[in-house]
Amino acid sequence: MQPLLPRLRALRRPGSYWHLHRYVLDLDADAAAGPPPGVTAGAGPALVPVNQADLDEMRATCPDLTDRKYDQLRERIGAADITAYLIRDADGSWAGYCHLAYRRFVDHYLSHVVRLRRHEVLFVDDQVFPSHRRRGLHVYSIRRRCELARERGMRTGVVVINDRNAASIASYRHVGIRPARRLVLVRPFRVMIQIPRRRR
Ligand SMILES: CC(C)(COP(=O)(O)OP(=O)(O)OC[C@H]1O[C@@H](n2cnc3c(N)ncnc32)[C@H](O)[C@@H]1OP(=O)(O)O)[C@@H](O)C(=O)NCCC(=O)NCCS
Repeated sequence: MQPLLPRLRALRRPGSYWHLHRYVLDLDADAAAGPPPGVTAGAGPALVPVNQADLDEMRATCPDLTDRKYDQLRERIGAADITAYLIRDADGSWAGYCHLAYRRFVDHYLSHVVRLRRHEVLFVDDQVFPSHRRRGLHVYSIRRRCELARERGMRTGVVVINDRNAASIASYRHVGIRPARRLVLVRPFRVMIQIPRRRR
């Protein structure tokens, strides 16, 4: 770890603080909104639980899948507390990945541990490859995960989003997210400060 003084000096730099929010969403409310678009009788896009054959095909065909992410997705094959899904576009090409985590999730990237209650599920680690963006695939992946989580008896979704990530906030607004907690990541110290929202 870096010595203390340079880290204290770094606190004055604007990029040293990341502002985020933890949001919650009611999974049943999304059910009332009807099925996700494009999921009729096998047509349209799909979420495929990660498996070795499809992951290898994704690696062979998607230059945007990094080696680090390939390794992480491979480790998650068959995992009990997190399910990784590969996003397949309507034409059969691989378009990205996304996850649902149950119980507890350690986010090393954000130095943050998300503890989940019974019936809570975390939407995490979403990416649509640049070649497939702005076609509604992220919104599809969120709404489909709402269905899949409900099938496992979950009632509430949780998601952590950086305030600067306009695309992700716009996507999750489609399922009625509500801010639950403000988060500030102090990057030089890798510490996440959590500020609960005041009840009115
Ligand atoms: C965020 C991300 C997953 C969005 O994927 P996508 O498939 O392009 O999103 P969609 O096509 O479903 O669009 C969803 C909404 O985001 C908006 N949007 C998409 N890209 C945007 C951008 N660059 N800036 C602003 N809004 C954007 C769309 O207009 C749409 O909003 P609307 O329905 O209100 O019009 C993708 O940009 C990505 O992989 N980014 C890098 C990783 C990341 O940020 N992951 C999310 C972490 S929480």
